Amino acid sequence: MNEKVKDYFKSQRNLEVMPDATVMGQGGDPGCGDYIELYLKINNDRITRATAMVAGCPYAIATTSAFTELITGKPLDDAMLISGDDVVEHLGSLPEEKIHCSLMGPEALRNAVHNYIMARICTPFSVPRKPTL
Ligand code: FES
Repeated sequence: MNEKVKDYFKSQRNLEVMPDATVMGQGGDPGCGDYIELYLKINNDRITRATAMVAGCPYAIATTSAFTELITGKPLDDAMLISGDDVVEHLGSLPEEKIHCSLMGPEALRNAVHNYIMARICTPFSVPRKPTL
């Protein structure tokens, strides 16, 4: 584990639940244990805050922590272009067998953006509960 990965693992950034998040997206597979929940605060289609909860190895913690930093402040379009390779590059390097850990952030972001778009499209119109007389 290189020094930068170690730093992100030991001094985790933004790894907490965000109760007032605009949207949440999941990455990984809760069934096998490698899993993240990515919370986004979105303002005018820009990510103003990103946090995450991680169940996974130290590399999953470090890569997810780095991913929240990389996407914060970015318009959704730009954030969507940040890949697992960008996370690995930011951290310097990862062992080959740990590369998949860096993919959960981008996957969770895709799911969060999907949820965000669906919530905007599918906002229910208001229906009166009682018929008006
Ligand atoms: Fe599975 Fe890192 S999350 S090895």
